[in-house]
Amino acid sequence: MAGSPSFRPVDRVGRVERTLGGRRLAAMLPDPGTTRPVYRHLAQAISALILDGRIALHVRLPAERDLAVALEISRPTVTAAYDLLRESGYAHSRQGAGTWTALPEGARPSGVARALAPPDAAIDLARAAPGLPEQVLAEALDRAGPRLTEHAHTPGYHPYGLPELRAAVAERFTRRGLATVPDQVLVTSGAQHALTLVLGLLCEPGDRVMVESPSYPNALEAMRRARLRPVSVPVTDSGWDVEIIESTLRQAVPKLAFLIPDFHNPAGLLMPVEERVRVLRAARRAGTWLVIDETLADLALDVPAPPPFASHATPGGIGQVITIGSMSKSYWGGLRIGWLRAPARLVTELAGQRIANDLGGSVLDQLLALALLARSAELLPLRLERLREQRAALSEALSAHLPQWTWRQPPGGLSLWVDLGEPIASAFAERALDYGVRIEGGGHFAADPGVFEQRLRIPYTTSAGTLREAVQRMLAALADGLPLRSATRRPHWIA
Ligand SMILES: Cc1ncc(COP(=O)(O)O)c(C=O)c1O
Repeated sequence: MAGSPSFRPVDRVGRVERTLGGRRLAAMLPDPGTTRPVYRHLAQAISALILDGRIALHVRLPAERDLAVALEISRPTVTAAYDLLRESGYAHSRQGAGTWTALPEGARPSGVARALAPPDAAIDLARAAPGLPEQVLAEALDRAGPRLTEHAHTPGYHPYGLPELRAAVAERFTRRGLATVPDQVLVTSGAQHALTLVLGLLCEPGDRVMVESPSYPNALEAMRRARLRPVSVPVTDSGWDVEIIESTLRQAVPKLAFLIPDFHNPAGLLMPVEERVRVLRAARRAGTWLVIDETLADLALDVPAPPPFASHATPGGIGQVITIGSMSKSYWGGLRIGWLRAPARLVTELAGQRIANDLGGSVLDQLLALALLARSAELLPLRLERLREQRAALSEALSAHLPQWTWRQPPGGLSLWVDLGEPIASAFAERALDYGVRIEGGGHFAADPGVFEQRLRIPYTTSAGTLREAVQRMLAALADGLPLRSATRRPHWIA
């Protein structure tokens, strides 16, 4: 048998000491072909043999030199592969005694060889953020470059945002049905930055804030870090419960309420106009600021794009609404450009807050945003078309391979909010990473800890082929069973 190691007497803890020779291990390894880097491929192949039971545990791996000779590769390559095996828990070493096979803490031996995909090779389903076609970015750079040089002789600080961009954002609001002047616009480094500025200006630690549950995790985290007290209102598959929103506003009288009424992240829902009007009235009665996140408003896949939420307010109520928007989902998150629309007086105060924060955003990024916004009529339909195709590919693959998972098709946005039928999301996310899919359990979207263990947000922001591959990998992960521990020590971050 290719993998049978040779036996030596007994080791220090009484186990039979076994050593795998260089040529023997080489014979068990698949041909690396053109896979690069070789050391990573080698480490993955050895760990797969261990997981598959074809190399036993506590077996001494060949001396680095022997394996290098047998594989006709350099010794440092073998050293790097052994280092990676040690880092990932598939090997232990003792000075002078060699390198021994092992299993990472918490791993279960499994009949299925796991991919042990390196984190950078994992398909990223944790971030619902589409890329921008290279050509589009290159053309925007061509337009922005000469305009940047015009700014070279200026200090380059624009705490309110570049005047041209403020005007373009104001014009976009006006076109969508909410008359806006540039003085009502503050350009920020993304929607998340806009929210943190608002929280910093309007809230004190201990203040109550009304949030949806589920909601956008980074918004929830910003509130926790500002030591605010979230009061949650549910968003279910059938939408918002406006009676609960009204009674929460009446009883809790929160300082502000944060809502994502346009293709909600993660639920994908669109709040009906009558409900918007009721929420506006209730917030006005309670004296609560409404912070409306319209980051996903352009992503109307099956319905017309909604007008701004604040356009439904009566003249007296409009001063109570702060609208947040972003380039990130309609164009590209890498620009780090967002904005907020608020009464001009508040914009001035928020700009003061912003100066204390970062003095202003990058001029180049703002010029790129301008170049892209100028082409919105041409670029957005292409983005929507692509998203529809990807949503269809993801839905088909899930229906075919994971029919026990259910979801409601959202009218827009970037993701499916999938019901797994059992509370396994965290453990599943852990296992999925072993199979090369980075995804986070529904609990990250919960305002109150411990819920949505039955949910996964699956974004359709990558290509149809990648989504199909991701579903295959998730299917394999599920078939492998779930790890016993669902808690995880790896860092999470979601967009
Ligand atoms: C609802 C919502 N708000 C804010 C953000 C963050 O946007 P930005 O990249 O502009 O900071 C996101 C990104 O996923 C989002 O979905």
